[in-house]
Amino acid sequence: MAVLSKTIEANSEITIYKYLIMTFTLISSPLQGFTDFKFRNAFNKYFGGIDTFYAPYIRLKDNMEMKSSNFRDILPVNNTVTELIPQVLTNDADEFLLVAKDVQELGYKELNWNLGCPSPTVTKRGLGSGLLPDVEQIDNILYKVHSKSDIIVSVKMRPGFDNNEEIFKILPVLDKYPLKNIAVHARTGKQQYKGEADPETFKRCIGNTRHKLIYNGDITSVEKFREIQQLLPETDTWMIGRGVIADPFLPQMIKTNSTQHPENNIEIFKEFHDELYGEYEQALSGASHLLTKMYHFWEYFSMSFTNSHKVLKKFKKAKTIVAYKSAVSETLRQERFVGIK
Ligand SMILES: Cc1cc2nc3c(=O)[nH]c(=O)nc-3n(C[C@H](O)[C@H](O)[C@H](O)COP(=O)(O)O)c2cc1C
Repeated sequence: MAVLSKTIEANSEITIYKYLIMTFTLISSPLQGFTDFKFRNAFNKYFGGIDTFYAPYIRLKDNMEMKSSNFRDILPVNNTVTELIPQVLTNDADEFLLVAKDVQELGYKELNWNLGCPSPTVTKRGLGSGLLPDVEQIDNILYKVHSKSDIIVSVKMRPGFDNNEEIFKILPVLDKYPLKNIAVHARTGKQQYKGEADPETFKRCIGNTRHKLIYNGDITSVEKFREIQQLLPETDTWMIGRGVIADPFLPQMIKTNSTQHPENNIEIFKEFHDELYGEYEQALSGASHLLTKMYHFWEYFSMSFTNSHKVLKKFKKAKTIVAYKSAVSETLRQERFVGIK
């Protein structure tokens, strides 16, 4: 018995020790329409756990100027988070360079290149994951950008548009350039968000590039994180997208290796919600814009509450501000915040 308890003690010490020496970085993956500066600031104030935020992609207007909403989103005075990295969606080196110059003027040193967007309107035009099959064009763009700018480039990509093998032709090209890192969302572009992300595909990329790889896809709970982490023990940087919105406690829980939400979770969530609501109430004109915006958030928030379908239905039916506010208070009074199961 004594030996057994000693072994257990030693093992738990090893586990604690391993945990202490295993530091990792958590990145908030950009979600157009959700993770703008209002969300990022409120998230950071109430939850934390994210080291770096990627801003949703910038796409220049026809006159090659940045949209004012993109500009506002990355304007340093609007951002209270420690590290923010802007992102560009383009298949044109000159457009890339213009955005690089714009963001450098605002003080940013790095620009992330979106090679992952799966939306058919984007991919049909050879943008996002639609550019992945054109390895030569990826090479040309990176060549021109690195010859004409000193911006630090990082990449966020899918393993391919049609299949998961395309990445093995792309990585040698990416290796020619001094990229900061490559985030891989392990689903094909064609798959969009269907099916599950495939950490095995990500694992096969390790050793096939000199660049640092960041894992992205389906981290929705501490249990899920541990499962993927066991499969990818060499990975120390993780990117979470939808999970941050659905369960904003998740990054801090991952960081503290805890499967328990804080006891006063409803209270914290309420303060966060009210701040987010207040920000959008000020920024958006008219009740219907505000209700639509908040409904889309509840499509994610509802996932973490008990009776999530019933909760979402309540918000679907809420067509006035009064009805919305009572849906919020009813939900927070009647349901528990349990995270994604
Ligand atoms: C509504 C929505 C908007 C997104 N917008 C962007 C974007 O602007 N840039 C980007 O690189 N990825 C974007 N993504 C992809 C996410 O950043 C992320 O890669 C993907 O959701 C997989 O990670 P997850 O399973 O942790 O959510 C978006 C995804 C969704 C669902």
